[in-house]
Amino acid sequence: MRLTPGILVGSLLIGCAGDGTSPVSAPPPPTEAPSTSALVRLTTIDLARLDDYTRALPGYYLTPNVTRLDNASGRPITDAGATLGRVLFFDRHLSINDRIACADCHDATLGFSDTARFSVGHDGASRTAAHSMRLGNARWYDGAGFFWDRRAPTLEAQALEPIQHPVEMGFDAAHGGLGALIAKLDTLPYYAELFTFVYGDATITSERIGAALAQYVRSITSTGSRWDAGYATTWDVALPDAGLSRPLPTLTAEENRGWQLFLLPPGQGGAGCAGCHVPPTFSLAANSRSNGLDAGETTIFKSPSLKNVAAAGGYMHDGRFATLEQVVAFYDTGIQAGPALDQRLRRPDGQPVRLGLSAADRAALVAFLGTLTESAPSGDSRFTSPFREDS
Ligand code: HEC
Ligand code: HEC
Repeated sequence: MRLTPGILVGSLLIGCAGDGTSPVSAPPPPTEAPSTSALVRLTTIDLARLDDYTRALPGYYLTPNVTRLDNASGRPITDAGATLGRVLFFDRHLSINDRIACADCHDATLGFSDTARFSVGHDGASRTAAHSMRLGNARWYDGAGFFWDRRAPTLEAQALEPIQHPVEMGFDAAHGGLGALIAKLDTLPYYAELFTFVYGDATITSERIGAALAQYVRSITSTGSRWDAGYATTWDVALPDAGLSRPLPTLTAEENRGWQLFLLPPGQGGAGCAGCHVPPTFSLAANSRSNGLDAGETTIFKSPSLKNVAAAGGYMHDGRFATLEQVVAFYDTGIQAGPALDQRLRRPDGQPVRLGLSAADRAALVAFLGTLTESAPSGDSRFTSPFREDS
């Protein structure tokens, strides 16, 4: 419930005393209007009616194969913590000049990514060195780390990096680092209320900021695609993998052909994609190495989940491919040899695989990738800005 102005509360009390007898005298009207909290004035957050960030997952996300990937285990998502995370995620005060929020590079209507190959930073001109990553299903990744090059060990640690990045949000060492950010957040009255609500006191620490942002990122689950609608009807509790071999009723014949190509290994006439981009979360297998974009590559890259992959172009760590057609053509004929290249993309002689797909099969794979994309989350307040001035 929002705080109701005192005068209205008073009249409601009078109205409630309608028991036929003459009302006892109403409480005296407050001498001054009660102060509305900064949280209520500036945001649409209602602490008495939090959004539901822990809604039930489909059964096929609850199998041992999926739950063992869950990096929320031991760090549970709460509605209060994720609500604080949402405010931080959309708050441009997290940048040195109040110009950029996490949400500006991770746009919910674009699968939490960005159409720009390299995102514009807080100064409005500098660009990031890598393409913005989609955030859906980041929760189901038990691999060595986050970011394309896996340098952040946890989502908690990851969340503090863009804040301190000289291009992204600008609280780098030269600008006081996280200490300067915390001093700034201490001056914003709504955070005292939010941190007290979540943590029991108003102390702002980088650990608390990281934990709340990580909870919010983990709450971005992707289970609403056309692929999900079909898979939900074919998977089998007893034999979860059996559903994989069945055509999905929500997909066209071409999309189902693409689904089979995605699933089957190259030796069985497929393209072997699911060996690394694993259904039903389509997060990367933890043991995946690189996919051979460049000859001689030594960095072991990760990929975000392929859910919502068609929502915004710019593929791979440097956004080098504008379209999914180019991505599929690369896997078909373009994989390069190098120390980091994964075994799954090598022939028995160690050289990169050449899939030799027909034009129809390449098109089918692209069509299938489109079925992993949800319609933009309109009307879901969890994924929109809570700030009144943004609406
Ligand atoms: C200026 C644009 C920009 C801003 C602002 C930004 N990001 Fe990012 N984000 C990126 C880019 C680019 C990458 C990939 C960077 C890399 O790998 O080096 C990324 C990667 C990530 C990842 C890694 C995903 C994965 O699967 O490994 C997460 C999580 C993330 N950002 C969350 C956030 C949060 C939380 C904030 C706010 C505190 C934020 N980002 C602010 C551009 C941005
Ligand atoms: C050996 C594991 C592996 C296999 C097999 C594999 N990929 Fe990937 N995929 C990756 C890695 C690693 C990346 C990230 C590479 C980078 O950016 O440096 C990636 C990136 C991608 C991306 C871009 C994601 C983004 O957010 O930009 C798409 C799309 C993709 N793969 C689709 C496929 C398809 C389709 C197939 C089958 C033809 C496939 N992959 C097979 C490991 C794999």
